Amino acid sequence: MTRNVKIAPSILAADFLHLGAEVDKIRDSGADMIHFDIMDAHFVPNLSLGIAMLEQVRKATDMYLDAHLMMDNPEKYIKTFADAGADGITVHLEVHPDPDAILDEIASFGKDRGLSINPDMPVERLRGKVGKVDRLLIMSVFPGFGGQSFIPESLDRLRQARALLDSEGREQTEIQIDGGVSAANAAAIVRAGADCLVAGTGFFRAANPAEAVRQMRGA
Ligand code: DX5
Ligand code: ZN
Repeated sequence: MTRNVKIAPSILAADFLHLGAEVDKIRDSGADMIHFDIMDAHFVPNLSLGIAMLEQVRKATDMYLDAHLMMDNPEKYIKTFADAGADGITVHLEVHPDPDAILDEIASFGKDRGLSINPDMPVERLRGKVGKVDRLLIMSVFPGFGGQSFIPESLDRLRQARALLDSEGREQTEIQIDGGVSAANAAAIVRAGADCLVAGTGFFRAANPAEAVRQMRGA
């Protein structure tokens, strides 16, 4: 099955003083969606973007908005992020070991259901839990900060994740990778089974972000 590689710049690495121009930069680069890192300073040791920023970006673009909730209590905010304009909402298995209920709630707002695991969560723990997942997010860094290095073992985890999804009849489920992704390592990441590449510094720190998108997509 041929898969189109999607590119999702992470707005966490953007210049917040010129957010409108940064959103335009993402649009003009040919990227497929905007990745929003929502950190609550509990699940991860950092506090990042909030709902107001997502609402503002929603008004400025019709691009797909991908909300990555690194939160201890995402269940309290699903409706809020849906109303704010997120098109996809991703929660962590570490927080919701039985994710069906929260995935159903995400779907009840017509949004794509995302589930994520950290680098130290065995992929096998997803077995029997991917039946309602539209987007499986494999973290290739421990969440909380942009600009970290890609953890090499993540390539094996991508292969395991792809095999697990296929073995459960979820061939359609998109595999997203997040953390330390750039034009330099995109080819190996795509070969290992990733369909969607999140890039923060790999996009915003690139000399030519549009060229970086072309290279990552062409990988
Ligand atoms: C980390 C976030 C990532 C991060 C990506 O917790 O989930 O999305 O912002 O940034 P880079 O691509 O710079 O690693
Ligand atoms: Zn993220």
